[in-house]
Amino acid sequence: MAERPYIVGNWKMNGTRSMLSEARAIDRASQRLMKVEVALAPPFTLIHATHKEVEQIGVGAQDCHAGEEGAHTGDISAAMVLDAGAKFVILGHSERRQDHGETNEIVRDKTESALAAGLRIILCCGESEETRDAGKAEEFVTGQLRASLPASVAAMLESGPETLTVAYEPIWAIGTGRTPTVADISAMHRAIRATLVELYGEDNGSAVRILYGGSVKPDNATELLSADEVGGALVGGASLSAENFLGIVMAAVDLPE
Ligand code: PGA
Repeated sequence: MAERPYIVGNWKMNGTRSMLSEARAIDRASQRLMKVEVALAPPFTLIHATHKEVEQIGVGAQDCHAGEEGAHTGDISAAMVLDAGAKFVILGHSERRQDHGETNEIVRDKTESALAAGLRIILCCGESEETRDAGKAEEFVTGQLRASLPASVAAMLESGPETLTVAYEPIWAIGTGRTPTVADISAMHRAIRATLVELYGEDNGSAVRILYGGSVKPDNATELLSADEVGGALVGGASLSAENFLGIVMAAVDLPE
């Protein structure tokens, strides 16, 4: 576990203003749990209101467009989410890759412009069940990572490792209640770490946090967070209730140093 675990909630396409009470409850509890860094990525429509509502936790977006501005109906740029109060953006989530045909190249371009705008990045990667069954999970995920990371990350990491977080989320574990074994998570996170060290050197590559995501719940969080090189969790369904999400945050608080 990294020095300060990072627990991030991804609300996906869930939440209207009535959900702000959950964000407030998460924020108030997190103020007493400084050992863990807590953040939420609500839908675009709630970024500003969440930013106004909370004092302690980070607020981020779930996506942004690669362009700076212009004729892209319905799209939102990195500068816009920053202006709304977001400090980070989740990019390359498998639901974006699947539902919107986002390729590694598109994810790389988005990462590049989000970094240029001053956002921190949570870059997602993960294999399908088919790829895992074929014994190609590590090769696929590390390849996806290499192809999704722009060259500008190297210089950004010089000014702070928090610029980049990687989230490993096996597609077959998202929203299914199924999770990989701790041994499989450890092996994958070690492979991701080796790739980051190769790309960015020992110091910077070792300082990037790698989150696990996919069916993290209060009752499995301790086990999943104890896998090698796991620096926190990216949480979907269980982040929609303050009670469940805080159960995961508490598991991170209680991890042995
Ligand atoms: P889940 O989603 O926790 O609902 O499985 C995780 C994610 O997609 O980030």
